[in-house]
Amino acid sequence: SFSSVTHRLLFILDLLASDYPDLRKHNNCMASALSPAIYAKLRDKVTPSNWTLDQCIQTGVDNPGHPFIKTVGCVAGDEESYEVFAELFDPVIKDRHNGYDPRTMKHPTDLDASKITNGMFDEKYVLSSRVRTGRSIRGLSLPPACSRAERREVERVVVTALAGLKGDLAGRYYSLGDMTEKEQQQLIDDHFLFDKPVSPLLTCAFMARDWPDARGIWHNNEKTFLIWVNEEDHTRVISMEKGGNMKRVFERFCSGLKQVEQLIQERGWEFMWNERLGYILTCPSNLGTGLRAGVHVRLPHLSQDPRFSKILDNLRLQKRGTGGVDTAAVGDTFDISNNDRLGKSEVELVQLLIDGVNFLIESEKKLEKGQDITVPDPISQFKK
Ligand SMILES: *[C@@H]1O[C@H](CO)[C@@H](O)[C@H](O)[C@H]1NC(C)=O
Repeated sequence: SFSSVTHRLLFILDLLASDYPDLRKHNNCMASALSPAIYAKLRDKVTPSNWTLDQCIQTGVDNPGHPFIKTVGCVAGDEESYEVFAELFDPVIKDRHNGYDPRTMKHPTDLDASKITNGMFDEKYVLSSRVRTGRSIRGLSLPPACSRAERREVERVVVTALAGLKGDLAGRYYSLGDMTEKEQQQLIDDHFLFDKPVSPLLTCAFMARDWPDARGIWHNNEKTFLIWVNEEDHTRVISMEKGGNMKRVFERFCSGLKQVEQLIQERGWEFMWNERLGYILTCPSNLGTGLRAGVHVRLPHLSQDPRFSKILDNLRLQKRGTGGVDTAAVGDTFDISNNDRLGKSEVELVQLLIDGVNFLIESEKKLEKGQDITVPDPISQFKK
């Protein structure tokens, strides 16, 4: 009868409502995007590897965030999470990536480093140059969700492929569980080692399980091409060197990535990628290129100028301390990197960083001479 159907429906709604997380104090993209209606619709869905919406959002439920810093608040457990739970992830992505609409837009990929211009910085100011990204192996769950067997399979696929790198890129793998004291100290001295995740943003996303099983670091003999295995992503790929030759750093980044991709393809694997979202990574904030190109740059005058933050914002640049994310700046040296990841290609983002840092250095030189500087017009975003 009508009344018993209604009764049953109300009962189900009540059950779902009672499971809805309390997000009243939260400042993250997940909490802004999630509603009881979306939760009710997605709560009982699973991806092909049985990952759920509740598992995606747990980190954002447990970490309300900072009143002034909006965190992301959800992670993907596998490639399909972004499709099965698209009603949550799409608005999160749009919010986080300056209006990029994954329902209507296509993400461009371009790893042709020959297109870069003015990629050599004045080394009086730029101390080191670096480009990083992440890559995930299609068909294996991401770090929040992977089984021990899957995590070990990621390590096996990646390390086997890396053994095929030749010439300047030839190197070796150091397993976190097996390395000697001496090897560990060397990796610490080189600033290559990564630690067990302790941030609740990561542990509440289940990323420290079974530590250090199947985690490790690979680097080439010249220590300019580095790959982390099974930290926050299946792989993090880093090209870096001292000095200001960003063009060379990006050339090595592109050619290294292409060779690694070919080596894994020869063994029947491929990277997660699609037109809508670019390269698929664990955190929605890294979708698209996953690319962070950055320099350590000395800006003693400009950093004292009240217009510094506005200039960085308008150039779509971000500043961090030189100790990494969340660290304060040491003296007058800053880690300056691109703000955006999705909707612009690797070449566009690296060029944007290069043009922006050159602008900062020119401004620094003007201030040294007692001349005035200007605030550049804002670079357009998808919102506009
Ligand atoms: C997903 O869960 C179902 C039901 O418990 C089970 O039959 C199936 O084997 C699981 N799939 C995977 C990939 O674990």
